[in-house]
Amino acid sequence: MKKITVIYWSGTGNTEMMAEAIAEGAKSNGAEVNLLNVANATKEDVFNADAVALGCSSMGAEVLEEEEMEPFVESLMDERLKGKPVALFGSYDWGDGEWMRDWDGRMKEYGADLVREGLIIQLTPEDEGLEECRQLGKKLVEG
Ligand SMILES: Cc1cc2nc3c(=O)[nH]c(=O)nc-3n(C[C@H](O)[C@H](O)[C@H](O)COP(=O)(O)O)c2cc1C
Repeated sequence: MKKITVIYWSGTGNTEMMAEAIAEGAKSNGAEVNLLNVANATKEDVFNADAVALGCSSMGAEVLEEEEMEPFVESLMDERLKGKPVALFGSYDWGDGEWMRDWDGRMKEYGADLVREGLIIQLTPEDEGLEECRQLGKKLVEG
């Protein structure tokens, strides 16, 4: 059984809804899923998984949340990330997705194998967005 880890930071629950839908999609494709708030995650949760989804909303001025998510992402700069299937996701509001483009680029530099471009949804995801999240979860299992 494939092991999928989903780790997220979410201030008002929007990115958390995305994380739950991604986890649901991965489970529906037969994976064992570890869904964690970043506050409860360690980098081993990333390195031990077959594929990983990382989520964070756009904060500050087009950056990751700085207290928890930013240091966690920084900690993933490690040989063990090389070739790891990773997908990024997150909610935003008024921007154009710059934070996600930057984050995608950064994870590629760290050696991750991005399974698709970062999935971004404006504010609270609706049915269509949640379905995209489930599809992303399924895709992570397929590799
Ligand atoms: C302090 C703060 C900074 C934000 N900065 C941005 C930003 O730079 N660009 C953007 O598109 N949205 C920005 N937003 C909007 C959030 O990304 C948006 O409300 C998102 O839906 C929050 O998702 P969450 O509930 O998962 O945290 C910001 C929100 C807050 C509270």
